Amino acid sequence: MAEFTLPKNSKIDKKIGKTYKVKSSEKSTGKKLDKNIRVFEVYRYDPEDIDKKNPHIDKFEIDLNECGPMVLDALIKMKSQQDSTLTFRRSCREGICGSCAMNIDGSNTLACTKAINDCDKSSTIKIYHLPHMPVIKDLVADMTHFYEQYKSIKPWLQADEPDNPHKERIQTPQEREKLDGLYECILCACCSTSCPSYWWNSDKYLGPAILLQAQRWIVDSRDEASAQRLDELEDPFKLYRCHTIMNCAQACPKGLNPAKAIAEIKQGIASRKA
Ligand code: SF4
Ligand code: SF4
Ligand code: FES
Repeated sequence: MAEFTLPKNSKIDKKIGKTYKVKSSEKSTGKKLDKNIRVFEVYRYDPEDIDKKNPHIDKFEIDLNECGPMVLDALIKMKSQQDSTLTFRRSCREGICGSCAMNIDGSNTLACTKAINDCDKSSTIKIYHLPHMPVIKDLVADMTHFYEQYKSIKPWLQADEPDNPHKERIQTPQEREKLDGLYECILCACCSTSCPSYWWNSDKYLGPAILLQAQRWIVDSRDEASAQRLDELEDPFKLYRCHTIMNCAQACPKGLNPAKAIAEIKQGIASRKA
């Protein structure tokens, strides 16, 4: 049986978390307002902590009557009113940049498009970094390897004819349609970090996000390197570690289906041999 050991000092220490009590505008307004409190349990890890504490979970009480509707709104409130050292990524606040991807209420998703009201109401709302990625601080995962893998598929248009500012590379509507379901990917990594094959083999397996991106270029009628792209992917680890478990499609906050894209790459390789 396989045995796994956790890296030193990586275990969550349940004894050292803090609780941040609700902060409301009651004091400043002088009015007694109804409260609607929800408790968030947030993963905390600080590599520069002078006491070298293990990761721990802090509890934040938030009054939903004074908070926006999304989990990202609650995180911003925690950071601005309760603990300014709380660290997470965000930029667009509308599901476009992919930077606020994290594990909320047991699923990988985007904090800016996940409504607080859609989280399990019977317990606290648990927020962790994307799973199976090294953590830089709190909710910020280290995406270096993920982006290296993205670079490896050459995610740009390859064509023999050089760019000409006076001539477009025309596509028919049908050719353009082939990119639907692929071009919308925002590289948030929710799918790859929910894929068991990627958890165990991410050193060699490209994972659902990067393979979906690879298919985006393979089917682009303007790209002339499809054959080389398929050659590159025909590898027992890069591509064939997908076992069609489908976690990726369930996790994608943009409603995409990376497993289908992977199956299409496999079909593309098989049909060349037929
Ligand atoms: S279908 Fe493939 S890529 Fe998607 S979660 Fe399963 S193994 Fe991973
Ligand atoms: S396929 Fe979906 S989950 Fe995966 S990286 Fe792209 S947008 Fe994110
Ligand atoms: S902040 Fe851009 S996707 Fe959430």
